[in-house]
Amino acid sequence: MSTANQLDSLFIKAAFSQKTERPPVWMMRQAGRFMPEYWEIKNKYSFLEMCKTPEIAADVTMLPVDLLGIDAAILFSDILVTGEAMGGDLSFTQGVGPKFANPVRTAADVDALETEVGDRLQYVADAIQVIQQRLNGTIPLIGFAGAPFTVMSYLVEGGSSKDFKLTKLMLHNHPELAHRLLAKIAKVTTDYLNLQIAAGVNAVQIFDSWAQALSWDDYREFSHQYIQQIIAGLNRKDIPVISFCKGSSVFAPLMAEAKPDVVSIDWNVDLKDIKHRLPSGMAVQGNLDPHILYADKAVIKDRIHRLLDRMRGEDGFIFNLGHGIMPDIPFDHVKYAVEVIKEYR
Ligand code: CP3
Repeated sequence: MSTANQLDSLFIKAAFSQKTERPPVWMMRQAGRFMPEYWEIKNKYSFLEMCKTPEIAADVTMLPVDLLGIDAAILFSDILVTGEAMGGDLSFTQGVGPKFANPVRTAADVDALETEVGDRLQYVADAIQVIQQRLNGTIPLIGFAGAPFTVMSYLVEGGSSKDFKLTKLMLHNHPELAHRLLAKIAKVTTDYLNLQIAAGVNAVQIFDSWAQALSWDDYREFSHQYIQQIIAGLNRKDIPVISFCKGSSVFAPLMAEAKPDVVSIDWNVDLKDIKHRLPSGMAVQGNLDPHILYADKAVIKDRIHRLLDRMRGEDGFIFNLGHGIMPDIPFDHVKYAVEVIKEYR
């Protein structure tokens, strides 16, 4: 197994704010439905089968490595596998999205959730080992997990939500119950990321996709403190930690307090301005509006060049989108974008 630490790679150097000859690039949701090759695999297996079969998870992880030439691979999995391992009855249905058939809404539901779940997530460690064999030391592999608030929202709502009504009601009417649930998820998430690190990932990212639904005070109380706990509990020697949330243009100063190596920024804010407001030596990742990738190639090139011009001379910059690639973005636009970023000097 190749578990080279990748400390000389563009991605890890940029994550640790060291000088690089160009910014590294990868894209959130780079292994997914915008790729015709993804559908060739997806038509044969369910999404969870793909996640749970190490050879298939490795095949999908490798698609953007082979077809796009990005500078980091990301493990093919989902943020909701922690919720499933804790006892959630998880399924993914085309056009419906993720569902938990047994939502967590009462004290008894929270108490029933398991917190010693390493064995149930062993398939992820197995996938990581197969992926590292395939990568063979070429580029780093990013592991990931969902942040407790975002995972909680799926467990409580029973699936995706527009307004997070039930989740917020639990925070506001039953804060002690919400804290018990969040603490359980945080414990599992810390163990899960350490399991990924032990299995050989070279970096980890925490996704708090729906943090933007929270007020500043609620973000601090119900999201930030758990992310801080998780980061403090990671075996992070040589392993950069990336903290992502939608809403980072507002929450970045709090995200920085949790001491990640990299803060991943949404597209609402000027990336250089926000970087200069963070502690020195903290890297940023971002922040192209993914909708730019729907536009004409001339527009794609212009907007990428604007961002790269703005970040010229900044160490600690990883090129990414402000959020994930949408499934109907044309594949050749994504490929073109990666070329433009890699050719820029
Ligand atoms: O980035 C990558 O390419 C790695 C794989 C990855 C997936 N999900 C694969 C996936 C990652 C990092 C995730 C994280 C994830 N999952 C997040 C956080 C990232 C973000 O964009 O904010 C969230 C909120 C989820 C929960 C989830 N899983 C949703 C909302 C969906 C899509 C529902 C839908 O149908 O639109 C999923 C399913 C999912 N996860 C797919 C993939 C490739 C699609 C599954 C399919 O093929 O049907």
